[in-house]
Amino acid sequence: MNILEISYLISSVTFILGLKMLSNPESARKGNLIAAAGMTLAIFTTIFLYVSPSGKPLGNIVWIFGGIAIGTLGGVLVAKKVQMTAMPQMVSLFNGLGALCVAIISFLEYLHFPANNFSDSFNIKLLIILSGLVIGSVSFSGSIIAYGKLEGKIKDFHFPAHQVINLIFLLVILILIIIPVFGINQSLSFLYLISFLSIVYGLFFVFPIGGADMPVVISLLNSFTGIAAALGGFLYDNQVMLTGGILVGSSGTILTILMCKAMNRSLWNVVIGTWNSSSGNATAKTQTGVIKEISVQDTAVLMSYSKSVVIVPGYGLAVAQAQHTCKDLEQLLEDNGVDVKYAIHPVAGRMPGHMNVLLAEADVSYDKLLEMDEINPEFVKTDVVLILGANDVVNPAALTDTSSPIYGMPILEVINAKNIIVNKRSMNAGYAGIDNELFYNDKTKMLFGDAKKVLSQLVNEIKSL
Ligand code: TAP
Repeated sequence: MNILEISYLISSVTFILGLKMLSNPESARKGNLIAAAGMTLAIFTTIFLYVSPSGKPLGNIVWIFGGIAIGTLGGVLVAKKVQMTAMPQMVSLFNGLGALCVAIISFLEYLHFPANNFSDSFNIKLLIILSGLVIGSVSFSGSIIAYGKLEGKIKDFHFPAHQVINLIFLLVILILIIIPVFGINQSLSFLYLISFLSIVYGLFFVFPIGGADMPVVISLLNSFTGIAAALGGFLYDNQVMLTGGILVGSSGTILTILMCKAMNRSLWNVVIGTWNSSSGNATAKTQTGVIKEISVQDTAVLMSYSKSVVIVPGYGLAVAQAQHTCKDLEQLLEDNGVDVKYAIHPVAGRMPGHMNVLLAEADVSYDKLLEMDEINPEFVKTDVVLILGANDVVNPAALTDTSSPIYGMPILEVINAKNIIVNKRSMNAGYAGIDNELFYNDKTKMLFGDAKKVLSQLVNEIKSL
């Protein structure tokens, strides 16, 4: 084993370790750094230590370092500027660029493929090259559309029989790949055709999917890029590229499945878009009844004289960027002897771990964050539940209304608490586009307003008690 192979082994171990550490908010930052250090090691050892089978070093050092400098600068600037709520867009953009790299590499490798190596038997190397080209192109164009949708620059676009058209595209692409794999050498225009069809397929695949379903699709596209990168690893016989690609591919797939499960949706349902908020196909019951409002002053008194308070953060808390004010409230209540906990739903917000990341930013202690299974039995003994910009994740229709699009989704059973206070700006629906009967419950009081504004008023009011 030479030094390069040892460095690849170390890098692969850091990727696995990093992924493992990402599963816990306490170790996630460190895990990210460890995996990034492993990737840096793999990149630099490849640049300086790689020698081709014919004994030539890598070369093109100026080009390589020029590319690294531009990429690093762009990455740092974007990462520093991006808002926490815009994270899925950033992931999508970076994923699209990674996929484009794989597609370009595959394109060039096809051109370099020696003509006399085309034979009439099944050629695995060509299959790998062309699969990388197709998956990379699909993931590239799909990710760019996903980015545009999440940024609000591209609208959902439905066209008649899109599933059938997509299927035809896919079949044509598969047939085209098979031709050279069985030994029929093709011209450059053939390669352009495969690339073009794959890019169009990526566009058609993502265009009709509801904008709000994008986090699931992004995770799926991420796994596509991982698979494409793993194919590159096969091609170059590069162990670290292979391990990295397999890890991205498999973790992306697992995340996609987990997100679908937590939303009680099948992946097929997301992909063909039979239900999504933007298409307005939700059929849940419309709620009628009287809602009761509560003032900031009364909320302050109620919470200050309670024994236990559970805060339920949701997408609105992230939009309002109210996590720091929320932490101030928690501190103040704790100082007054109130026991404060947070109830975290797996799909609260718009990306996996959204609430954990948000609250970690405000230094909320990890042991105060309770997962759904842990906190649900505790609601019966809770004096006040304060819901901050959450809606679907506390909607009882998920348990009781079989006609609801979210029926079957596990929820935070806040309805069992003694008092329920809901902070949001209006009676508007959440992501699922449906009414919430919780708002009309006898125990519920609405505290209308922007989460950050209301929380700072609440903090001031409690201080003055
Ligand atoms: P939602 O159901 O989307 O509800 C968020 C609520 O926040 C809205 O009803 C909105 O009401 C309120 N809001 C918005 N801005 C606010 C502000 N500045 N201050 C106060 N309130 C504000 O959120 P949720 O309960 O977190 O549920 C998440 C949803 O996203 C689920 O349906 C889930 O399936 C879906 N989803 C999640 C993920 C992941 S992985 N997390 C991925 C895809 C989809 P007003 O407009 O009246 O204020």
